[in-house]
Amino acid sequence: MAAVQELADRTKSDAKCYIDPTIGEDDVSADGSESKPYQSLYHALVQHIDKPAPTYLTKIAPKEGSSDAPTWEEPAKSALKKAVGRVDAYKKKLVKEQQAANKEEEERQRRLKNLEEAKKIVLKEDESLPPAVRIKLNNKSVALGDGETKGTRVRVYGRILNFRAQKSATFLDLKDGYGVLQCVLPAGDLTKCYDALMFAQETALVLYGELKKVPPAQKAIDDRELHVDYFKVLGSAPSDLDAISNKVSRQQDPWDAQMLDNRHLVLRGENASAVMKLREAVEMAFIDTYREMEFRKVSPPAMVQTQVEGGSTLFKYDYYGEEAYLTQSSQLYLETVMQSLGNVWCLEKSFRAERSLTRRHLSEYSHVEAELDFIEFEDLLEHLEEIISRVVDKILDNPTSAAYIKLLNPDFKKPSRPFLRMKYADAIDWLNKQDPPILNEEGNLHVFGDDIAEAAERRMTDIINRPIFLTHFPVEIKAFYMKKDPNDLRVTESVDVLMPGVGEIVGGSMRMDDYDELIEAYKKNGIGHEPYYWYTDVRKYGSSPHGGYGLGLERFLAWMANRHTVRETCLYPRFMGRCKP
Ligand code: 4AD
Ligand code: MG
Repeated sequence: MAAVQELADRTKSDAKCYIDPTIGEDDVSADGSESKPYQSLYHALVQHIDKPAPTYLTKIAPKEGSSDAPTWEEPAKSALKKAVGRVDAYKKKLVKEQQAANKEEEERQRRLKNLEEAKKIVLKEDESLPPAVRIKLNNKSVALGDGETKGTRVRVYGRILNFRAQKSATFLDLKDGYGVLQCVLPAGDLTKCYDALMFAQETALVLYGELKKVPPAQKAIDDRELHVDYFKVLGSAPSDLDAISNKVSRQQDPWDAQMLDNRHLVLRGENASAVMKLREAVEMAFIDTYREMEFRKVSPPAMVQTQVEGGSTLFKYDYYGEEAYLTQSSQLYLETVMQSLGNVWCLEKSFRAERSLTRRHLSEYSHVEAELDFIEFEDLLEHLEEIISRVVDKILDNPTSAAYIKLLNPDFKKPSRPFLRMKYADAIDWLNKQDPPILNEEGNLHVFGDDIAEAAERRMTDIINRPIFLTHFPVEIKAFYMKKDPNDLRVTESVDVLMPGVGEIVGGSMRMDDYDELIEAYKKNGIGHEPYYWYTDVRKYGSSPHGGYGLGLERFLAWMANRHTVRETCLYPRFMGRCKP
């Protein structure tokens, strides 16, 4: 009540403050004048805290239907009381905020003083200790201390994964790209020095100390920990707003624009780096498997002047005045060297100007391609089953790569053989027989000759939920070089391998081996044959029944590691600092 009285007294000044609940504004566009009134009495009061109080006037609209002009009147007591109550609460909030700010500032000053004190502590390595053996964190098999016997004194380089400073000690997990080690810094100079107070996620450092056994119940990685006796920070990391945890967080979608701009920091994370490590393991498994199968690795060019998979996805560029492209596939080159090198394969980049952003299309992708000489279509299918199975076996048999699969896709199971085989024509029937039918892109039932679009293909693969060899696609929807099935000239001896969750990961076929037929195929596809003379010559100098395939490495990985998009399997899925996907 006292506040209301105080306000009533203060309203005796000559100045006036206008409030118009209908057209007034409670923001900077208003100033309380008659032409720019505030909207609420509360806001008007807040504007006059600690200032001489004006006379508050609220606009009263005339009764409906009346032609009287609106009037300005002093607020009713009840309205004033209500508004003052709100102002009091607001004032209390201001006081609290000020107190918190003061406390924060005190804390900051205390910390600064602490840091100044901490700078006086200079760590020195104890020279009476045995020299420290350098180890990497994937090989911690040195003698471990167990209280009675001393463990090896080691030196480890890495970055802080996480840490917690407690009264008795500072604990940190160190990562070095090979493994993780728990380190304990006993309370004292080691924990009170400036560098220890500035520890942050990603600080780079070298730590020295005795490696000790930890009972399994205490849950240390590999049942061991480092008892640090000395350390040196080699590269600090920010702990303020710039801290890595503020830039990239586990909660964020790794594909939003900010996360793509910070891809270099996302890659510091456990999951993103595990995908990259798995990628390396898969590439190595292909290399080893092809070696075992006596395929020769070659390296065809990326800058080319011929198309392979249709003109619409070509990346064109100017090659000293001539039109040239980034390769869509190395297939044509592989076909020209198997005559002297035997079965060949490559792992090169292919480029596709895919104008839509989907879960499984990249502009630049890694393409595993192989070409097999003197084979029949059935040999190609058997080979594909063999190579996929062997690569999967290699990943699962190696404990390091198996651990990545366990982390990224714990439910992964090696596909059982034989893989399901399904002719394109049967797939069309299958799609139409579903209840409700899976429709084509125009929303109609599928008919023979339709491209099975990405969505339909993936639904089919997910429902069947095992690898599918989809074979014998119609001539019209496949590339110019594919061999026709001698038993049904409407279709080609072609195969797409479809995997649950991803869809097509492999496209392959037998190749047209007849010279005249190939010349005819160029014509039919509107391709001028001159630039392809070297490819056509394959049919002139000892033509053979042969076939091959291309496997998208990122799609293979998305399948094995259960990644939602192929981009997650790329080191840098788009140019850094550019907005294009
Ligand atoms: O089916 P595609 O277009 O076949 C070829 O390029 C053949 N010349 C390969 C050959 O026989 N040597 O591509 C083969 C595979 C696809 O199954 C898919 O896994 C992958 O390459 N692929 C892509 N991956 C990511 N982004 C893209 N834009 C891709 N386009 C194709
Ligand atoms: Mg394809």
